[in-house]
Amino acid sequence: MRPTVLIAALLLAGPAIAEDIDALKRDTREKALPVLPKVVKMMKDTVTDKGVAGAIPVCKDKAPALLKARAEELGWQIRRVSLKTRNPERGTPDAWETAQLTAFDLRAAAGEPAEQLEVGEIVSDAAGHKTFRYMRAIPVGDVCLSCHGDPADIGAELKAELAKSYPQDRATGYTKGQIRGALTVERPL
Ligand code: HEC
Repeated sequence: MRPTVLIAALLLAGPAIAEDIDALKRDTREKALPVLPKVVKMMKDTVTDKGVAGAIPVCKDKAPALLKARAEELGWQIRRVSLKTRNPERGTPDAWETAQLTAFDLRAAAGEPAEQLEVGEIVSDAAGHKTFRYMRAIPVGDVCLSCHGDPADIGAELKAELAKSYPQDRATGYTKGQIRGALTVERPL
């Protein structure tokens, strides 16, 4: 059997699909997730070196650039999305992502640790093209609160700085451990 035929046969076999999704999840986790702790470390270091306002470019430019570079290396799409965006142009989820983010919030409320929430699914578009879609929750840590926490705790200068670029900012009012958003991955199959 030619390898492509074999793969097609495996994909058609019911129980194999579950294994296939597990393998895709594992592979996606290994290849895409290491960017997340890198951004958190860069955020912590930059807040220490340059103060909170000086760290705005980490979430604004560095994180999207790192994700874009990794996505290009892999030939995938990788973005950050949220139900409460700061930058609606970049971070607005589509219908599938909105459903997953809503489910993440429910799962976290039911006691699952936010940092372990993930989902992976094979989806087909109208033309029958299959894509593996994966999402991983991004939890709020201490360092995130200075820009995404209680608005009453955000200093006037920083608030003004954020308001300049983000007149539609909805990304405040979070507490530690909540889900800020998710990393979302699309892999062509
Ligand atoms: C110094 C301020 C600052 C800190 C600290 C900060 N962020 Fe952000 N965050 C921003 C800005 C500015 C944006 C808008 C980015 C853009 O323009 O795409 C943003 C956007 C995001 C987004 C994309 C979705 C959206 O709302 O537009 C996520 C996810 C996110 N931040 C997570 C985090 C996490 C997790 C932490 C802690 C590790 C964190 N941020 C810490 C300023 C900050």
